[in-house]
Amino acid sequence: MSQAIEFDEAAARAVEQMYLTPDVVGQRARVLEMLAPKPGERIADIGVGPGLLAQDLARLVGETGRVAGLDMAPAMMKMARTRLAALPQAECMTGDATSLPFADGSLDAAVSTQVYEYVADMGTALSELHRVLRAGGRALVLDTDWRSVVWHSSDEARMGRVLACWDGHLADPHLPAKLGRLFARAGFQVLRVEIVPMLAAGWQPVSYAAGIMRAIHGFARNNGEAHGLSAEEIQAWYDDQLRLIERGEFFFSVNRYAFLAVR
Ligand SMILES: C[S@@+](CC[C@H](N)C(=O)[O-])C[C@H]1O[C@@H](n2cnc3c(N)ncnc32)[C@H](O)[C@@H]1O
Repeated sequence: MSQAIEFDEAAARAVEQMYLTPDVVGQRARVLEMLAPKPGERIADIGVGPGLLAQDLARLVGETGRVAGLDMAPAMMKMARTRLAALPQAECMTGDATSLPFADGSLDAAVSTQVYEYVADMGTALSELHRVLRAGGRALVLDTDWRSVVWHSSDEARMGRVLACWDGHLADPHLPAKLGRLFARAGFQVLRVEIVPMLAAGWQPVSYAAGIMRAIHGFARNNGEAHGLSAEEIQAWYDDQLRLIERGEFFFSVNRYAFLAVR
């Protein structure tokens, strides 16, 4: 069952906070290393969100290049626009990943991190990506597979129910396992696939793990009932995590998967 998250101003701030943690700063470094943007290139960031990756890309392509950040959520667009305002080579536009506002073959590269897992029609999204890239153009796509979670709990069954509810915030919580075949079907050649782990082998208040725990708690409180989760059960799950933190027994990890493909 899928209940989309609304990327309103509060969600935009929460995503920004989580994506400024060292875990996601490290992810952006990995993405940039894989994509290897060059001065003068024209690059799109599809689902630009808070604009953190687009800001790095704009600096790397320089004033002779072009970075277009696209997003469907007005609050995200506003945040990205503010972040990119001082970089004349960057622009932001409202749009959907399944209908890209770029001419055929007009881009050298495109990135989309933590976005396609929200997109129901991945066939159309990847054929659009293929259309807008030039021959030899690169695509870097990164998404989470929520089956890869290792999260210590005193009640594994309850943890499973909370995570099953969280799966409902995405169109496909297991997209990475299918991405290779989807890329090939859209006419791409996959060059490289890497795991980007989000790991907290102990509690860190400023971490991806802390941010995602808050996000899952909020999502479950609003949507748990539809998944047979009572308010008491959700609170018991959260209180258990607080107890484990106090005892120094917190452990969380989940894998993101980065695909580099060429047109
Ligand atoms: C979790 S955020 C990731 C933001 C950014 N890519 C990053 O990694 O920092 C997901 C973003 O994807 C956007 N999004 C979701 N579905 C989209 C679609 N169909 N077209 C464009 N943007 C979309 C959301 O509005 C949100 O800004």
